[in-house]
Amino acid sequence: MATNPLPQFPPGFLWGVSTSAHQIEGAADERDPSVWDAFTAEPGRIKDGSTAEVACDHYHRYREDVALLAGLGVDAYRFSVSWPRVNSPGGLDFYDRLVDELCAAGVRPVPTLFHWDLPLELDWLSRDTAARFADHAAVVAERLGDRVQKWITLNEPAEHTLLGHALGAHAPGRRLLFDALPVAHHQLLAHGLAVRALRAAGADDIGIANSHGPTWAASRRTEDVEAADFYDVLLNRLFSDPLLLGRYPEGIGELLPGDVESDLKVIAEPLDWYGVNYYQPTKVGAPEGAEIEFSGLTLPAELPFSVRELEGYPVTDFGWPVVPEALTELLVGLRERYGDRLPPVVITENGCSYEGIDDQERIAFLEGHVRALHRALEQGVDVRGYFVWSLMDNFEWAEGYARRFGLVHVDYDTLERTPKASYAWLRDALRAQARR
Ligand code: NOJ
Repeated sequence: MATNPLPQFPPGFLWGVSTSAHQIEGAADERDPSVWDAFTAEPGRIKDGSTAEVACDHYHRYREDVALLAGLGVDAYRFSVSWPRVNSPGGLDFYDRLVDELCAAGVRPVPTLFHWDLPLELDWLSRDTAARFADHAAVVAERLGDRVQKWITLNEPAEHTLLGHALGAHAPGRRLLFDALPVAHHQLLAHGLAVRALRAAGADDIGIANSHGPTWAASRRTEDVEAADFYDVLLNRLFSDPLLLGRYPEGIGELLPGDVESDLKVIAEPLDWYGVNYYQPTKVGAPEGAEIEFSGLTLPAELPFSVRELEGYPVTDFGWPVVPEALTELLVGLRERYGDRLPPVVITENGCSYEGIDDQERIAFLEGHVRALHRALEQGVDVRGYFVWSLMDNFEWAEGYARRFGLVHVDYDTLERTPKASYAWLRDALRAQARR
């Protein structure tokens, strides 16, 4: 019997891996265009000049990928449904086949309805996009709802707002700074309307995948503490407060369009669970009056905060600090802030980018984070699942293919898949868990 590298989790705890449509599917010529296709076509937007036209060619190789999931022994697979593909003739047939294949392999399908690849003709600055998203949710639920129990509405609306609309580093490439706030509100409204649409279609296991990271003030000086608090509002509470408390953080509601009070009732539709994507904490201080290079981004000088380098931790190949204990802090902090309003939590993404097939660093990263998660459980946080980002190497947005987050290596010339050391480690660790 293999030794168990992980603490024992409660029976029924959901172990899974995640991907997203635009990052793995390819077959871009077999669907309508998205904002990411247009963005990628603009010179200089993607660091290695690559596109996601082929990506991992998952669209044509999904059977092989489901076999990899089955071999890994995960309970569940989180993937996203490409909205432009759903809008294309025959597009939903693909997800129908994928879901059948997953069910036949004993892996629970967990679709995300929006993971950033907005149909090119739509725009989150327009309120109407929220209603269109609810229609999209209804169409997908109608088709897959007989086999899908667990649903995710949106992936990381914070990053989609910030990177895509405020800073212009992601599609659609706008640099609106604070004028991007309506994009946050419209996505949240879209989420609430989609929850209602999914419930009307009979769904009763609905969540969202929100990014969360503890914000650490650069010092105890009031300027640094206030700047860190502001950053925490923009990146975290702007999304979690309306969802879980039915109100925006102080000072935000006035900046938003429409009848915000009545929209908040929709946004705060009770959730069955709350998904958290965790990667790293951020150290933030008072503005320093100059542009900052941070994680491949250029942050403008006029922001009311500055992001500082977090020293004293190992970093991944992406330069992100590895801080598992911040995951415990984050989960305990969510429970403290939201109390009974916090539904059971699922970690919908956690992972790291490292080169190589003998990826011992990824094993250490995952082991450290799963242990940190278990400590949160011991401290009374109701965590029900953990999904690794990602099943396989894929198109890492503006970074192109340079960052490898997969448990499975993808050779982008041959599209051959090779399980890494971390894949074998996770498989064995899951076998050692008493699962049911
Ligand atoms: C979060 C996003 O949801 C996912 O698409 C991305 O690849 C990972 N973070 C890693 O950056």
